[in-house]
Amino acid sequence: NGILILNGPNLNLLGTRQPEVYGTTTLAMVEDACRAHGKAIGVNVSCHQTNHEGGMVDAIHAAKGVQAGLVINAGAYTHTSIALMDAVASVELPAVEVHLSNIHARESYRHVSYLAKVALGQICGFGPQGYILALDALKSHLEGS
Ligand code: DQA
Repeated sequence: NGILILNGPNLNLLGTRQPEVYGTTTLAMVEDACRAHGKAIGVNVSCHQTNHEGGMVDAIHAAKGVQAGLVINAGAYTHTSIALMDAVASVELPAVEVHLSNIHARESYRHVSYLAKVALGQICGFGPQGYILALDALKSHLEGS
């Protein structure tokens, strides 16, 4: 009943990166909150961050047979990576796409998400709370409700 929280490029800089867009909460704080929420709802949360597209593909492959679902913020790879979309489709794990910012209210190149084509759904615009909402959504999905 594990869920992998996978964060992509530049999200290691959360807290100091364009705080007017992404807030001041660090990635470590986000991951701690996810693990704590996982404990509260009875889900085993693992967290991983990489700046590399191939590293994200590898982490998605490694989740197959180990995790029950994925929460993914692929950063800018969201808008470019067919490889990530294919990786999620290949492992056949339910995935929820998360973005801190409301990508639909930003530049037009952020409006397209390849990941959305293979995700259960997308949560964006709620800041770090989005990860918590994604965990709840994935848990409900896994329980079939
Ligand atoms: C982001 C939105 C992306 O467009 C951007 O490239 C990011 C962060 C978000 O969480 O709002 O790196 O995924």
